[in-house]
Amino acid sequence: MSSAQIIRTKVGIVGGGPAGLMLSHLLSRAGIDNIVIEKRDHETIRNTHRAGILEAGSVKMLTDTGVDGRVLTEGHRHDGIDLRFNGVSHRLDFQDLVGESVWLYPQNEVFVDLAVARKRDGGDVRFSVTDSDVLDLTTDVPKMRFTDADSQRFEVHCDIIAGADGSQGICKRAIPADERTDHFIAYPFAWFGILTEAPPSAPELIYANSEHGFALISQRSERVQRMYFQCDPNEDASVWTEDQIWDELQKRVDGPDGYTLKRGRIFEQMVLPFRSYVCEPMRYGNLFLAGDAGHTVPPTGAKGLNLALADVKVLFEAIDSFYAAGSRELLEGYSDTTLERVWKAQNFSFWMTSMLHTREDQSSFERKRILGELNSVATSRYGQQYLAEAYTGWPSA
Ligand code: DHB
Repeated sequence: MSSAQIIRTKVGIVGGGPAGLMLSHLLSRAGIDNIVIEKRDHETIRNTHRAGILEAGSVKMLTDTGVDGRVLTEGHRHDGIDLRFNGVSHRLDFQDLVGESVWLYPQNEVFVDLAVARKRDGGDVRFSVTDSDVLDLTTDVPKMRFTDADSQRFEVHCDIIAGADGSQGICKRAIPADERTDHFIAYPFAWFGILTEAPPSAPELIYANSEHGFALISQRSERVQRMYFQCDPNEDASVWTEDQIWDELQKRVDGPDGYTLKRGRIFEQMVLPFRSYVCEPMRYGNLFLAGDAGHTVPPTGAKGLNLALADVKVLFEAIDSFYAAGSRELLEGYSDTTLERVWKAQNFSFWMTSMLHTREDQSSFERKRILGELNSVATSRYGQQYLAEAYTGWPSA
C-alpha cells in the first residue's frame, strides 16, 4: 500500500450521520475547514430507519441555517399526542400547554437533506472509509487516519476532533477507561417496529399503555405508517405473520371507544433493543463526543436525534468561539454544558419508558401504581405541561 497522504484541516469529524453532517454544515458556514469520514455508504445510512419526531429547535436548526430541506414541505407539524391507558385516550395539546409543536419527519430524511446540502456547498464528506482510527488526542495536533473508498490511505492533522460516530463508534473507545465513567442501564424489553402500507390510524401519535404492554402508533406519510409494540429483547421478528402483528398491536390499543387500527401490508419488521447510556465526560483532550457516541436513550419520546443536534449546537458554538475569539473557555465547558440537557433527556426517556411499558413480573400494586402515575399526568395541567415541555424540547443552553 502507498504511504499515507497527509491532509491538514481544522476540525476532523468522525461520523457522517445527521450529527456529523450538521456539525460540518455549521462549521463550513462559519468558514471553519473540516473533513467528515464515515464508514457506511450513503445508501445504508439513508435506509437506516430511526425515530421520526423533530423538536421545534431541531427544525429551526435545519431551516435557519440554509439546509433548505423538505422538513416544512414534506414533514407534518403535530400539535399534540394522545396518551392512552385503560383503553381511554387523553390528548395533550402542546400548543395550549407550552406554545410549541413537533414535526413528524424521519431521521433518514434529515440525513438525506444534510448530505444534499453538504454536496451543494462543496463539503468534504468521505463515505465508505475503512481502517479508521483517531490518535494524539491530548496533543495540539490530534489526528484521524483512514483508507478511502479508492484504497488511498490518509492521515488528517486537525486542531479538534469531533466524535459523532454513534454508539458503536471508535471515538468513545479511544478515551482510556480510567478517564471516563460509563453510566448504563439495560431494560428487560425491546420494540418490535413495523412499516406498513396503510392510511394513518390517527391524526397524531398515540402512546399506549396496556396490560399487554406498550404500543406506539406513529406515522410516516399518507400511505406509510410506523408502529411499534413492546416485545422481548430476544424476540425473532421474522417468525411473526402480518395477522399476528396486527392482532398484537390492536390488543394494546383496544378500549371501550372501539378504536381500531387501519391494517395494511407490512413491508418491514424488526426488533429494536434499547438501553440508557452516558459517557462522562464527553471529552478527552481535543476529542469531543456528540450524539449517540456520547449517550443513548431508549426511544420512548424520540429524544435521540434531537439530543444529538443539541450537542452539535453547543459544540459548534464552542469551536466557533475558539477560532473567532481565540478562547478555549466554551470548549473547556462543552461536556458540562451539553450533559445538562443530556441528563434531563435521560430522565424524560427513562420516565416515559417506565411509565408506559409493562414488566412481566409486575405486581398488582405496580400495575395500579403506574395507572395512578399516568392519571396524575393526564388529569393535571402541571403534569401535562412537564411532559409537553420535555417532548417538544427544552430551550437550548
Ligand atoms: C417515532 C419513534 C419514537 O421513539 C417516538 O417516540 C415517536 C415516533 C417514530 O419512529 O415515528
